[in-house]
This record gives sequence, C-alpha cells and structure tokens, in this order.
Amino acid sequence: MKKMIKHCVLLGSAAAALLAGTAAVGQQSIDKKVDELLRQMTLAEKIGQMTQAERKHATPEDVKTYHLGSILNGGGSFPGDNTRAEWVAMIGAYQDAAKSTRLGIPLIYGTDAVHGHSNLKGATIFPHNVAIGATRNAELAQEIGAATARETAATGVHWTFAPTLCVARDDRWGRAYECFGESPQLVGVLGKAYVNGLQGGRLNGKTIGSNKVVATAKHWVADGGTTYGSGDEGYEIDRGDTRLAAAELEKIHIAPYIPALQAGVGTVMVSYSSVNGTKMHENKALVTGKLKDELGFDAFTISDWAALGEIPAETNRERVVRSINAGLDMVMEPEEWRAFIADLTAAVEAGEVSMERIDDAVSRILKTKLRAGLFDAPLAPLAVSSDADAVIGSDEHRALARQAVRESLVLLKNDANLLPLDKGAKVFVAGDHANDIGLQSGGWTIEWQGGRGPVTDGTTILQGIEALSDGEVTYSAAGDGAAGHDVAIVVVGEEPYAEGMGDYRPAPCEKCQPITPSKAQREMLARVQKAGVPTVLVVVSGRPLIMTDALESARAAVAAWLPGSEGAGVADVLFGDHAPKGKLPVSWPQSLEQIPVNIGDENYDPLYPFGFGLTYEKP
Ligand code: GLC
Repeated sequence: MKKMIKHCVLLGSAAAALLAGTAAVGQQSIDKKVDELLRQMTLAEKIGQMTQAERKHATPEDVKTYHLGSILNGGGSFPGDNTRAEWVAMIGAYQDAAKSTRLGIPLIYGTDAVHGHSNLKGATIFPHNVAIGATRNAELAQEIGAATARETAATGVHWTFAPTLCVARDDRWGRAYECFGESPQLVGVLGKAYVNGLQGGRLNGKTIGSNKVVATAKHWVADGGTTYGSGDEGYEIDRGDTRLAAAELEKIHIAPYIPALQAGVGTVMVSYSSVNGTKMHENKALVTGKLKDELGFDAFTISDWAALGEIPAETNRERVVRSINAGLDMVMEPEEWRAFIADLTAAVEAGEVSMERIDDAVSRILKTKLRAGLFDAPLAPLAVSSDADAVIGSDEHRALARQAVRESLVLLKNDANLLPLDKGAKVFVAGDHANDIGLQSGGWTIEWQGGRGPVTDGTTILQGIEALSDGEVTYSAAGDGAAGHDVAIVVVGEEPYAEGMGDYRPAPCEKCQPITPSKAQREMLARVQKAGVPTVLVVVSGRPLIMTDALESARAAVAAWLPGSEGAGVADVLFGDHAPKGKLPVSWPQSLEQIPVNIGDENYDPLYPFGFGLTYEKP
C-alpha cells in the first residue's frame, strides 16, 4: 500500500506537468487541450480511446499496448477477495499503465454502482431505485448519490453506470426495479438529483479530485417501454421493441433524460432495446439526431455490454460500422475488444467510417476526461487516503440507507389499525425473506444476479424487529408455531434477479419468475393464518406482485421493495418509531391479465393506484 500511495502521488505530479493549467479547466482550455491531443494522436491511439474492455480480459500491459481508454468490471467481477485495497491496487495499475503511454491520456474505470457500490463487499447497499421512487424525496436521492460516490471513489473507481432512467411501463420486465417508477416526471426529478449527488453537479475539472464520480444516464432510450413477447436473446421482454408514435416516445421515455442532461450528466449508455424495429445501437436518428444534435449532449455515449453483437447484420465489421456511424463513441466490448479494434481500424481505412466521426467520438471522450479532472487526479485522493476504509459501509451511510428504507415503505392496508405494533407484543415472524440480506437486496448485489444468504454486511428485517422489540420474538422461516402470539409478521417476496433473467415467465420453466408469491410462501402464509393470529404481510420485491387474495386476507400489508443492507428500517416503521410515508411509484395490478397498467391509461383500475400509500391514524 505504501508503494502504491507513493506511486500515485508521482502520477499526479507527472500528469499535472503534462497538462499544466488543466487544474482550473474552462471550456476554451478544454477545447484547446483536446485539439492539441487530437493532432498528435495516431489512428490506433484514437480507436484505443473508444475501446472499453472488462478487467478479466485485459491487463495493464494491454492498456499500454492498445492505448485502451477505459476498463470496466461487470456485475460480480471484482479483484481478489473484494477488498477496497485490492480495488485501488487494480485500478492504480491500469491507470499507471495508461499514464505511461506516449501521450499519457488517463483511463476512466467504470462499474455498476447502482444501489451503492454494490459489487463491493461491505459497502452500504441502498434500496433499489423503485424504492427511492416510493420516497418521492429528491434530496434523499441526491444524498444517496453522494454517499455512493464516496464509497465508489474510495476504491479508485471513476465512473458509475447509474442512474438508470428507465420508465417502468410493464411489471413483467426484469429491470423494472431499476427504474424510479412508471411516471416520466418522477423519473426525471429523481434522476437529476441522483446525478447531482454522484457528480457533485456538472463535471467541473475537479470531479475526481473531489472524490466524486462520473454518472451515466441509461439506457437511451425507452428501455422500459418494450412490448412483452418482443424480448431479445431469449428474454420475454428485456431488450425488446418499444413501439410508440414519436409524441408518446418523447413524452414518456425521452422527457426524463432532459433534467439529467441539463444537470450535465457525464455519459449516456445506449439501450440494447429497439424503437419501432430499429436497434438503438444503430439508431442514428435517436442517438445522433435527437440526443446529440437536438438535445445538445456534447459528452460521450457508451454502448451496453457487447451490445453491437445484437445488431442484425452479416458481419461484426458491419455491426461496428453501423453503430459508430449511428453515434456510439465508446464501445463496451468486454472480451472481444481486440476484434472491435481491428474491425473499426479496417472500416476507417476502407472509408466506411470517416476520420471526422472518429475525431468527434475521441473529442467527446477526451473532453469528458478533462472535465472530470482525470488528467490532474488519476485516482480520487480518497482512494489513497488513510480515511478511505472508514468510508466503506460507514455508520453515516448506513443510517442514510435506513432512512431510505423507512421512507420507501408503502402501507397498503392497516385494518383496525393493527400497525404500529406495540413493542411489548408477542411477535411471530415467518418467511425466508425476513432473515436474508441477499433476498432483501435483490439483483446487482455483489454478484450480477444477486443471491440468497449473508452476501454482505447489514441487518435483516428480523434482526431489526428483534432489536426494537421489548417483548418476545419467535422466528420460523416455514411459519410453524404462530398460535398464541399477538401478531404475525409474514415476509414474502421474489428471488434475486437482474435484467432479462427477471422477466416474467409462467411455470413450468427452468428459472421461473412468476411475479406472485411462490407456492411455499402461500402455504406458509396459510399456516400462519390458520393459527388465527392477526397478520402483517411484508412484500420484499422489485415490483408489485400478483397476490390479491393474500392481501385481502391479511390485516395489514406493507410494500418494502428491495431495501438493501439496512433491513432494520422496516422494523422502524412496523413498531411506529417512524410512520410510513411511501407512495406507490408504480400501479399495483389486480391480476396478471391487467399488466401493463399505468397511470394515465383509459379505464385505469389497478388494485392500488400510482401514488397510493396510507399512514398511521393518530390513536
Ligand atoms: C449490462 C447492463 C448495463 C450495465 C452493463 C455493464 O448488461 O445492461 O445496465 O451497466 O451491462 O455491467
């Protein structure tokens, strides 16, 4: 570590010497620096800047040899034992390699810190975006962005592929929980706040130096509006086709990007999905025409993971030509990045992609790196500070996450004011989801798909209940032994999933996502209710579940979404230390057949409407 710290300090001074005066970079100075660099760069150096490889498939030596502009880690890809020091050492090695190249252009390292630095063991895991949507609290969203930036910067990461600005129009989509909700206005307000938290405002030449990170508005555009059954890659709806007239597309899916673009979001990731039959990764009208020319986005676009491969064309070279000419500036080609470099080089030499387009893409990338202050601060100061370890999963950040959990809970029913519970009550708790950090955190947590069990530090819902109760608490995952208790808290929910793996699939299937409590959960609920104990139903899910009968039979019901590492926030509300204030960010359907159901629909008649949420009656 000592060596690493010394090394990075040298890097900083070398960088400063190289581009003296970038410290206080104004636009003119940036444009001048970009032109200076562009004039010197070879085609290989330019195409290298446009290439992003995955950490498992590229070494620091490769960064030097191919002048790579960026490295990422995919979900679940982390160095060694996933400690902060190992992240810093890994990224420091990549950055040292980049700074040792002929022009010393720094590399930008990206990760999916999408609900906290969610690949890092021990990091604070905030509730997923759907829960933040339920809080309606933009200030909280900004604070979460800022806390996420600190924990991310403390590991040396420069850039997060967040926030997702999808508008969740169909609950059957496995990424609905990554959206702040089904309302474009709600997504726009919270997305802008989150960007400001992550970046500390516009990129101002000191972003990395201020321990902030570059944000990403994703996935451009209309990823949440695809038609069920049009899914790509064997998915039901993920990466499908959004079929909308221009006015609807504008109103529902483009509108939420405007506030984030105005806030100066550093990058935009293009969507796998299609709009009216054209893959977004070759959609020049929407990537160049709309995003860049009309909306004035002057930073850079990044592709999604190996997304060029999904463009329907005969050869990879054709896919590369169509995508770069459509306006993709940097390509996330995790494994086959050498082939990408070869294809693009050949395409430029054959005149299929103009040097003007290449220079435009590279200028955008260099401009963003300069605006982020990467030339002066190749690593965040926090990353090489002795304070860094204390930042990861700090009490302050966990308290913020617990506040977010509390404010995200939506009280759906509360017959006879069963809630709040008396702290002296004899409480029975049931369900796997009551005592499992992995289940309450959902996908994109340590592993790409998430997973059951003690995947990281935090408190379960049960631990929160036990800590606040002054009475007796009995737990049975299977729901055995409820008789004789004053109240039963039954926690049901979904298995963790990410992306298309979360698309609704009816049984029988290999990995089903039934968007309804499982048979075992329904049997567990019946067992508890047979004991005649008043029941509070807590739903831990990325989206509304179809469970009308269970909701009717319970005395009280709370939507808890995917609360993340601080499950204790649920107990804060159940025992009344804080009254529930969450409002539904998505409509809660009565039945599967009713989906999609969204505010503004004709004959809008969900079980619980968008914006619904009860609170406690004053006794
Ligand atoms: C994934 C996701 C995208 C993510 C990227 C890198 O496939 O679509 O949201 O940022 O790859 O992990």
